Amino acid sequence: MKSVKVKAHSNIALIKYWGKKDEELFLPYNSSLSMTLDAFYTITNVEKIDSDKDIFYLDGKLQNENETAKISKFVERFRKLSGKNFRVKVDSTNYFPTAAGLASSASGFAALAGALNEIYETSLDKKGLSIMARKGSGSATRSIFGGFVEWKKGHDDESSYAEKFDDGSWDIGMIIVILNDKKKKVLSRAGMKRTVETCPFYPAWVEEAKSDLEDTKDAIKGQDLNRVGDIAEYSAMKMHATMMATRPSIIYMQPKTLEVIELVKSLREQGMSCYVTMDAGPNVKIVTSSKYKDEIFERLKDIVDDNKIIYSKIGSDLEVLERVI
Ligand code: PMV
Repeated sequence: MKSVKVKAHSNIALIKYWGKKDEELFLPYNSSLSMTLDAFYTITNVEKIDSDKDIFYLDGKLQNENETAKISKFVERFRKLSGKNFRVKVDSTNYFPTAAGLASSASGFAALAGALNEIYETSLDKKGLSIMARKGSGSATRSIFGGFVEWKKGHDDESSYAEKFDDGSWDIGMIIVILNDKKKKVLSRAGMKRTVETCPFYPAWVEEAKSDLEDTKDAIKGQDLNRVGDIAEYSAMKMHATMMATRPSIIYMQPKTLEVIELVKSLREQGMSCYVTMDAGPNVKIVTSSKYKDEIFERLKDIVDDNKIIYSKIGSDLEVLERVI
């Protein structure tokens, strides 16, 4: 049977996306910019099947009707585009904990878009794939590309997509500190909706994101780790402030999150280049470089087990690993 295997890396936003203008098309209120992670990725195998239903396996487990329906809705877009009606078996493996605020949906939908593009022969280019991936999960828009990636918010389906901004071929990376790998209580989709609807500071967030993005691009061009990290921390803290000021409030941080933030601040005072960013979960990501990573690892071990600390370099573009056509 026809099958395709695709690998896509996860990404962590330095300038966050938080809030949708259009819930159906996943059009964001603000543009965002991320770093693709080499160490976190999804490999998805898609196989043409002789059935009237799609089948979905995640991390080796057959998924229930609800989860499969979400995937089928996404596959349906490719069936429509190609005019081909066959069903598929999707077998997706995340090489990191799912739904831990580490955006496994980003690499997941990016890999799925890449695999479906091959199996349904829709011939989309990277921009087209980015537009498709966006309709699975916002952050997936960026996971088509490696390096530093900008998601231009756009104003309609065709104009909202990501582009590689820079290869990131310099010494910058991220330490991922996993404090909790359980499924999060408020999923980002619901969290951002509540923020848009109830946070009085939300318009300020949207406004500020514009200059943060431009400043970050400038800092990346100058390969200025301290400036990139400083703006990333500022963006993450502002996003969490909007989450906390919703009704009812959303607090993703946990006591250990604050401990890591405190540690990073004190290491900075000791002259190390390290900055925090967090997503819709308690885990902390530390923007730093290989120069400081070992020392930061040592200090983190007082707070968290060393198998929960992962350093990642910058990752690469989406890749087709295998085609059996
Ligand atoms: O598209 P989602 O549901 O993965 O939302 C991602 C939101 C954040 O991770 C918090 C920020 C971002 O830009 O990735």
